Amino acid sequence: MKHAAIIGIGAYLPERRLTNADLEAMVDTTDEWIRTRTGIGERRLAAEGEATSDLAVAAGAAAIADAGLTVDDLDFLVVGTSSPDHVFPSTASLVQAKLGLTCAAVDVMAACTSFVFALHHATVTIEAGRASTVLVIGADALTRHVDFTDRRTCVLFGDGAGAVVLQTSDEPGVMGIDLGSDGTGADVLTIPAGGSAMPCTPERVAEGLHQVRMVGSEVFKFAVRAIPETTERALAASGLTSDDVTWLVPHQANQRILDTVADRLGIPQERVVSHIEWVGNTSSASIPLAVHDLYTSGNLRPGDVLALVGFGAGLTWGAAIVRWTKGPVR
Ligand code: ACO
Repeated sequence: MKHAAIIGIGAYLPERRLTNADLEAMVDTTDEWIRTRTGIGERRLAAEGEATSDLAVAAGAAAIADAGLTVDDLDFLVVGTSSPDHVFPSTASLVQAKLGLTCAAVDVMAACTSFVFALHHATVTIEAGRASTVLVIGADALTRHVDFTDRRTCVLFGDGAGAVVLQTSDEPGVMGIDLGSDGTGADVLTIPAGGSAMPCTPERVAEGLHQVRMVGSEVFKFAVRAIPETTERALAASGLTSDDVTWLVPHQANQRILDTVADRLGIPQERVVSHIEWVGNTSSASIPLAVHDLYTSGNLRPGDVLALVGFGAGLTWGAAIVRWTKGPVR
Protein backbone atom coordinates (compact mmCIF):
# COMPACT_ATOMS: atom_id res chain seq x y z
CA MET A 1 0.00 0.00 0.00
CA LYS A 2 1.10 3.56 -0.66
CA HIS A 3 1.63 5.90 2.30
CA ALA A 4 1.16 9.65 2.83
CA ALA A 5 3.63 11.96 4.57
CA ILE A 6 3.72 15.67 5.35
CA ILE A 7 6.32 17.40 3.17
CA GLY A 8 5.30 21.05 3.68
CA ILE A 9 3.57 23.22 6.27
CA GLY A 10 2.34 26.82 6.29
CA ALA A 11 0.32 29.16 8.48
CA TYR A 12 -1.38 32.50 8.38
CA LEU A 13 -2.78 34.75 11.10
CA PRO A 14 -4.49 38.07 10.35
CA GLU A 15 -2.66 41.11 11.70
CA ARG A 16 -5.40 42.64 13.86
CA ARG A 17 -5.13 41.65 17.53
CA LEU A 18 -8.06 41.67 19.94
CA THR A 19 -6.74 41.52 23.49
CA ASN A 20 -8.60 40.72 26.69
CA ALA A 21 -8.19 44.39 27.60
CA ASP A 22 -10.00 45.31 24.37
CA LEU A 23 -12.83 42.92 25.32
CA GLU A 24 -13.05 44.43 28.82
CA ALA A 25 -14.05 47.67 27.07
CA MET A 26 -16.69 45.89 24.95
CA VAL A 27 -18.49 43.48 27.33
CA ASP A 28 -18.77 42.80 31.06
CA THR A 29 -15.68 40.60 31.42
CA THR A 30 -12.17 40.67 32.83
CA ASP A 31 -8.75 39.51 31.69
CA GLU A 32 -8.61 37.41 34.85
CA TRP A 33 -11.93 35.60 34.09
CA ILE A 34 -10.94 34.86 30.51
CA ARG A 35 -7.43 33.63 31.37
CA THR A 36 -8.58 31.48 34.28
CA ARG A 37 -11.48 29.84 32.44
CA THR A 38 -9.95 29.52 28.96
CA GLY A 39 -6.22 30.35 28.95
CA ILE A 40 -6.77 32.92 26.20
CA GLY A 41 -4.93 36.25 26.27
CA GLU A 42 -5.55 37.55 22.76
CA ARG A 43 -6.88 36.48 19.40
CA ARG A 44 -6.62 37.62 15.76
CA LEU A 45 -9.45 39.04 13.67
CA ALA A 46 -9.72 38.85 9.90
CA ALA A 47 -9.59 42.31 8.32
CA GLU A 48 -12.64 43.82 6.72
CA GLY A 49 -12.99 42.19 3.32
CA GLU A 50 -10.70 39.30 4.31
CA ALA A 51 -12.62 36.04 3.94
CA THR A 52 -11.86 32.48 5.04
CA SER A 53 -10.59 31.73 1.53
CA ASP A 54 -8.03 34.55 1.86
CA LEU A 55 -6.71 33.10 5.12
CA ALA A 56 -6.60 29.67 3.46
CA VAL A 57 -4.75 30.96 0.40
CA ALA A 58 -2.02 32.56 2.51
CA ALA A 59 -1.47 29.38 4.56
CA GLY A 60 -1.72 27.16 1.47
CA ALA A 61 0.82 29.19 -0.50
CA ALA A 62 3.22 29.04 2.45
CA ALA A 63 2.86 25.24 2.69
CA ILE A 64 3.49 24.80 -1.04
CA ALA A 65 6.62 26.96 -0.81
CA ASP A 66 7.80 25.08 2.29
CA ALA A 67 7.43 21.81 0.36
CA GLY A 68 9.58 23.27 -2.42
CA LEU A 69 6.77 22.75 -4.93
CA THR A 70 4.76 24.90 -7.33
CA VAL A 71 0.99 24.93 -7.81
CA ASP A 72 1.35 22.66 -10.85
CA ASP A 73 2.62 19.85 -8.61
CA LEU A 74 -0.67 19.51 -6.70
CA ASP A 75 -3.36 17.11 -7.79
CA PHE A 76 -6.02 17.58 -5.08
CA LEU A 77 -7.09 20.26 -2.59
CA VAL A 78 -9.11 19.63 0.57
CA VAL A 79 -10.21 22.59 2.71
CA GLY A 80 -11.55 22.00 6.20
CA THR A 81 -13.74 24.86 7.37
CA SER A 82 -17.00 25.61 9.12
CA SER A 83 -17.04 29.32 8.21
CA PRO A 84 -17.07 29.09 4.40
CA ASP A 85 -17.08 32.25 2.28
CA HIS A 86 -20.56 31.33 0.99
CA VAL A 87 -23.14 28.52 1.26
CA PHE A 88 -21.85 27.70 -2.21
CA PRO A 89 -19.56 27.62 -4.14
CA SER A 90 -17.23 25.79 -1.81
CA THR A 91 -14.38 27.69 -0.20
CA ALA A 92 -12.06 25.14 -1.79
CA SER A 93 -13.21 26.26 -5.24
CA LEU A 94 -12.35 29.87 -4.39
CA VAL A 95 -8.98 28.87 -2.91
CA GLN A 96 -8.23 26.77 -5.98
CA ALA A 97 -8.79 29.77 -8.28
CA LYS A 98 -6.93 32.27 -6.07
CA LEU A 99 -3.90 29.97 -5.79
CA GLY A 100 -3.96 29.22 -9.53
CA LEU A 101 -4.45 25.47 -9.06
CA THR A 102 -6.10 23.33 -11.72
CA CYS A 103 -6.77 20.22 -9.60
CA ALA A 104 -10.06 19.12 -8.03
CA ALA A 105 -10.97 20.90 -4.82
CA VAL A 106 -13.49 20.11 -2.08
CA ASP A 107 -14.59 21.38 1.34
CA VAL A 108 -14.84 19.11 4.35
CA MET A 109 -17.03 20.34 7.20
CA ALA A 110 -16.79 18.80 10.65
CA ALA A 111 -16.59 22.03 12.69
CA CYS A 112 -13.45 22.13 14.83
CA THR A 113 -12.61 18.55 13.75
CA SER A 114 -12.55 19.60 10.08
CA PHE A 115 -8.76 19.51 9.76
CA VAL A 116 -8.53 15.91 11.00
CA PHE A 117 -11.36 14.84 8.67
CA ALA A 118 -9.67 16.69 5.77
CA LEU A 119 -6.33 15.02 6.57
CA HIS A 120 -8.09 11.66 6.52
CA HIS A 121 -9.72 12.46 3.15
CA ALA A 122 -6.33 13.40 1.67
CA THR A 123 -4.54 10.41 3.21
CA VAL A 124 -6.95 7.76 1.92
CA THR A 125 -6.92 9.41 -1.52
CA ILE A 126 -3.12 9.07 -1.62
CA GLU A 127 -3.16 5.55 -0.16
CA ALA A 128 -5.65 4.50 -2.84
CA GLY A 129 -3.34 5.85 -5.53
CA ARG A 130 -5.89 8.46 -6.69
CA ALA A 131 -3.57 11.40 -6.01
CA SER A 132 0.11 11.82 -5.21
CA THR A 133 0.38 15.37 -3.83
CA VAL A 134 -2.48 16.93 -1.87
CA LEU A 135 -2.85 20.32 -0.19
CA VAL A 136 -4.84 20.16 3.06
CA ILE A 137 -5.94 23.43 4.63
CA GLY A 138 -7.76 24.16 7.88
CA ALA A 139 -9.16 27.70 7.84
CA ASP A 140 -11.81 29.55 9.81
CA ALA A 141 -13.03 33.07 10.43
CA LEU A 142 -15.48 32.22 13.20
CA THR A 143 -15.34 35.73 14.63
CA ARG A 144 -17.63 36.58 11.71
CA HIS A 145 -20.27 34.38 13.40
CA VAL A 146 -19.89 35.62 16.96
CA ASP A 147 -22.03 38.15 18.78
CA PHE A 148 -19.58 40.70 20.17
CA THR A 149 -22.10 41.69 22.84
CA ASP A 150 -22.29 38.10 24.20
CA ARG A 151 -19.48 37.63 26.73
CA ARG A 152 -20.06 33.86 26.88
CA THR A 153 -18.83 33.31 23.31
CA CYS A 154 -17.07 36.43 22.00
CA VAL A 155 -14.00 35.91 24.18
CA LEU A 156 -13.29 32.44 22.79
CA PHE A 157 -12.69 32.59 19.06
CA GLY A 158 -9.99 33.88 16.73
CA ASP A 159 -9.37 33.67 12.97
CA GLY A 160 -6.54 31.92 11.11
CA ALA A 161 -5.45 29.18 8.75
CA GLY A 162 -2.90 26.38 8.65
CA ALA A 163 -1.98 24.02 5.83
CA VAL A 164 0.08 20.94 5.04
CA VAL A 165 1.17 19.33 1.80
CA LEU A 166 0.84 15.54 1.82
CA GLN A 167 2.72 13.41 -0.67
CA THR A 168 3.08 9.73 -1.50
CA SER A 169 5.94 8.19 0.47
CA ASP A 170 7.54 4.79 1.04
CA GLU A 171 7.28 5.09 4.82
CA PRO A 172 4.04 6.01 6.61
CA GLY A 173 3.90 9.60 7.77
CA VAL A 174 0.18 9.64 8.54
CA MET A 175 -0.43 6.40 10.45
CA GLY A 176 -3.61 5.46 12.34
CA ILE A 177 -6.64 7.69 12.12
CA ASP A 178 -9.80 7.47 14.22
CA LEU A 179 -12.91 9.50 13.39
CA GLY A 180 -16.31 9.73 15.05
CA SER A 181 -19.61 11.57 14.96
CA ASP A 182 -22.65 11.75 17.24
CA GLY A 183 -25.42 13.83 15.69
CA THR A 184 -27.61 13.42 18.76
CA GLY A 185 -25.41 16.15 20.27
CA ALA A 186 -26.03 18.60 17.43
CA ASP A 187 -27.72 21.19 19.67
CA VAL A 188 -24.78 21.54 22.04
CA LEU A 189 -22.84 23.77 19.66
CA THR A 190 -24.54 25.31 16.65
CA ILE A 191 -25.16 28.27 14.37
CA PRO A 192 -28.90 27.64 13.94
CA ALA A 193 -29.84 30.04 11.11
CA GLY A 194 -28.48 30.49 7.61
CA GLY A 195 -29.09 27.01 6.20
CA SER A 196 -32.09 25.27 4.66
CA ALA A 197 -33.59 24.38 8.05
CA MET A 198 -33.76 28.00 9.15
CA PRO A 199 -33.05 30.55 6.41
CA CYS A 200 -31.93 33.95 7.68
CA THR A 201 -34.77 36.45 8.10
CA PRO A 202 -34.61 39.88 9.74
CA GLU A 203 -36.42 38.42 12.78
CA ARG A 204 -33.96 35.54 13.15
CA VAL A 205 -30.99 37.85 12.72
CA ALA A 206 -32.46 40.16 15.38
CA GLU A 207 -32.59 37.13 17.70
CA GLY A 208 -28.95 36.31 16.92
CA LEU A 209 -29.81 32.89 15.52
CA HIS A 210 -27.16 33.34 12.81
CA GLN A 211 -24.44 33.35 15.47
CA VAL A 212 -22.67 30.75 17.60
CA ARG A 213 -24.76 29.13 20.35
CA MET A 214 -22.95 26.90 22.81
CA VAL A 215 -23.71 24.97 25.98
CA GLY A 216 -20.16 25.39 27.27
CA SER A 217 -20.35 22.91 30.13
CA GLU A 218 -21.62 20.15 27.80
CA VAL A 219 -18.81 20.84 25.31
CA PHE A 220 -16.33 20.58 28.16
CA LYS A 221 -17.67 17.20 29.35
CA PHE A 222 -17.76 15.86 25.78
CA ALA A 223 -14.22 17.05 25.00
CA VAL A 224 -12.51 15.57 28.05
CA ARG A 225 -14.16 12.21 27.32
CA ALA A 226 -13.76 12.15 23.51
CA ILE A 227 -10.15 13.35 23.21
CA PRO A 228 -8.54 10.56 25.27
CA GLU A 229 -10.77 7.88 23.70
CA THR A 230 -10.12 8.86 20.08
CA THR A 231 -6.39 9.33 20.77
CA GLU A 232 -6.12 5.85 22.30
CA ARG A 233 -7.94 4.31 19.32
CA ALA A 234 -5.74 6.07 16.75
CA LEU A 235 -2.60 5.08 18.70
CA ALA A 236 -3.76 1.45 18.85
CA ALA A 237 -4.40 1.51 15.08
CA SER A 238 -0.79 2.71 14.70
CA GLY A 239 0.62 0.03 17.01
CA LEU A 240 1.66 2.71 19.52
CA THR A 241 0.78 3.86 23.03
CA SER A 242 0.67 7.29 24.66
CA ASP A 243 4.28 6.70 25.83
CA ASP A 244 5.32 6.92 22.16
CA VAL A 245 3.75 10.36 21.64
CA THR A 246 6.36 13.10 21.32
CA TRP A 247 3.76 15.86 20.97
CA LEU A 248 0.06 15.81 21.75
CA VAL A 249 -1.56 18.49 19.56
CA PRO A 250 -5.22 18.83 20.59
CA HIS A 251 -7.64 21.29 19.05
CA GLN A 252 -6.99 24.52 20.95
CA ALA A 253 -10.42 25.25 22.43
CA ASN A 254 -9.62 25.82 26.05
CA GLN A 255 -6.52 25.42 28.26
CA ARG A 256 -8.50 23.63 30.98
CA ILE A 257 -9.53 20.99 28.43
CA LEU A 258 -5.88 20.55 27.36
CA ASP A 259 -4.75 20.15 30.98
CA THR A 260 -7.47 17.62 31.78
CA VAL A 261 -6.88 15.41 28.72
CA ALA A 262 -3.12 15.41 29.21
CA ASP A 263 -3.69 14.03 32.73
CA ARG A 264 -6.17 11.42 31.49
CA LEU A 265 -3.76 10.24 28.78
CA GLY A 266 -0.80 10.25 31.16
CA ILE A 267 1.10 12.60 28.85
CA PRO A 268 3.23 15.20 30.67
CA GLN A 269 2.10 18.81 30.19
CA GLU A 270 5.44 19.70 28.57
CA ARG A 271 4.59 17.38 25.67
CA VAL A 272 1.18 19.02 25.08
CA VAL A 273 1.26 21.80 22.51
CA SER A 274 -0.65 24.93 23.52
CA HIS A 275 -0.73 28.28 21.78
CA ILE A 276 -4.26 29.22 22.78
CA GLU A 277 -2.98 32.16 24.84
CA TRP A 278 -1.92 33.98 21.67
CA VAL A 279 -4.58 33.05 19.11
CA GLY A 280 -7.69 31.78 20.95
CA ASN A 281 -9.83 29.05 19.43
CA THR A 282 -9.19 29.11 15.67
CA SER A 283 -11.41 26.08 15.00
CA SER A 284 -10.27 24.15 11.90
CA ALA A 285 -6.98 26.06 11.84
CA SER A 286 -5.89 25.34 15.38
CA ILE A 287 -4.14 21.98 14.84
CA PRO A 288 -2.02 22.93 11.78
CA LEU A 289 -1.25 26.32 13.37
CA ALA A 290 -0.01 24.56 16.51
CA VAL A 291 2.12 22.11 14.47
CA HIS A 292 3.51 25.07 12.53
CA ASP A 293 4.51 26.72 15.83
CA LEU A 294 6.36 23.56 16.84
CA TYR A 295 8.07 23.34 13.46
CA THR A 296 9.21 26.95 13.23
CA SER A 297 10.42 26.97 16.84
CA GLY A 298 12.75 24.08 15.99
CA ASN A 299 10.98 21.63 18.29
CA LEU A 300 10.08 19.02 15.67
CA ARG A 301 12.61 16.37 14.72
CA PRO A 302 12.33 13.64 12.10
CA GLY A 303 10.88 10.56 13.79
CA ASP A 304 8.79 12.54 16.29
CA VAL A 305 5.28 11.15 16.78
CA LEU A 306 2.44 13.69 16.74
CA ALA A 307 -1.07 12.95 17.96
CA LEU A 308 -3.34 15.48 16.21
CA VAL A 309 -6.71 15.45 17.96
CA GLY A 310 -9.84 17.37 17.01
CA PHE A 311 -13.30 17.70 18.57
CA GLY A 312 -16.19 19.99 17.86
CA ALA A 313 -19.74 20.61 16.80
CA GLY A 314 -21.70 17.77 15.28
CA LEU A 315 -20.67 16.37 17.63
CA THR A 316 -17.50 15.22 15.91
CA TRP A 317 -14.08 14.03 17.01
CA GLY A 318 -10.99 12.49 15.47
CA ALA A 319 -7.30 11.76 15.95
CA ALA A 320 -4.48 11.26 13.46
CA ILE A 321 -1.11 9.86 14.46
CA VAL A 322 1.64 11.37 12.32
CA ARG A 323 5.32 10.46 12.21
CA TRP A 324 7.20 13.64 11.34
CA THR A 325 9.50 13.00 8.39
CA LYS A 326 10.49 16.50 7.36
CA GLY A 327 13.85 18.04 8.08
CA PRO A 328 14.34 21.38 9.89
CA VAL A 329 12.88 24.71 8.77
CA ARG A 330 14.24 25.77 5.35
N1 ACO B 1 -16.61 37.04 31.47
C1 ACO B 1 -17.20 37.07 32.69
N2 ACO B 1 -18.19 36.24 33.05
C2 ACO B 1 -18.60 35.35 32.13
C3 ACO B 1 -18.05 35.26 30.85
C4 ACO B 1 -17.01 36.17 30.53
N3 ACO B 1 -16.42 36.17 29.33
N4 ACO B 1 -18.67 34.28 30.17
C5 ACO B 1 -19.60 33.75 31.00
N5 ACO B 1 -19.55 34.41 32.17
C6 ACO B 1 -20.40 34.20 33.34
C7 ACO B 1 -21.75 33.68 32.97
O1 ACO B 1 -22.60 34.72 32.55
C8 ACO B 1 -22.18 33.06 34.27
O2 ACO B 1 -22.62 34.08 35.12
P1 ACO B 1 -23.96 33.88 35.97
O3 ACO B 1 -23.69 32.68 36.83
O4 ACO B 1 -24.08 35.16 36.71
O5 ACO B 1 -25.05 33.63 34.96
C9 ACO B 1 -20.88 32.51 34.84
O6 ACO B 1 -19.82 33.20 34.16
C10 ACO B 1 -20.72 31.04 34.61
O7 ACO B 1 -21.07 30.77 33.24
P2 ACO B 1 -20.77 29.41 32.58
O8 ACO B 1 -21.22 29.42 31.15
O9 ACO B 1 -21.30 28.33 33.50
O10 ACO B 1 -19.20 29.45 32.61
P3 ACO B 1 -18.21 28.25 32.70
O11 ACO B 1 -17.56 28.23 34.01
O12 ACO B 1 -18.85 26.98 32.18
O13 ACO B 1 -17.14 28.70 31.64
C11 ACO B 1 -16.58 28.15 29.38
C12 ACO B 1 -17.52 28.92 30.28
C13 ACO B 1 -15.17 28.71 29.56
C14 ACO B 1 -16.99 28.35 27.93
C15 ACO B 1 -16.63 26.67 29.79
O14 ACO B 1 -17.95 26.19 29.76
C16 ACO B 1 -15.79 25.81 28.96
O15 ACO B 1 -14.61 25.74 29.16
N6 ACO B 1 -16.42 25.08 28.02
C17 ACO B 1 -15.73 24.31 27.06
C18 ACO B 1 -16.23 24.72 25.73
C19 ACO B 1 -15.25 25.49 24.95
O16 ACO B 1 -14.12 25.70 25.26
N7 ACO B 1 -15.74 25.90 23.80
C20 ACO B 1 -14.94 26.52 22.86
C21 ACO B 1 -15.60 26.47 21.55
S1 ACO B 1 -16.18 24.90 21.11
C22 ACO B 1 -15.02 24.02 20.33
O17 ACO B 1 -14.01 24.50 19.93
C23 ACO B 1 -15.27 22.59 20.06
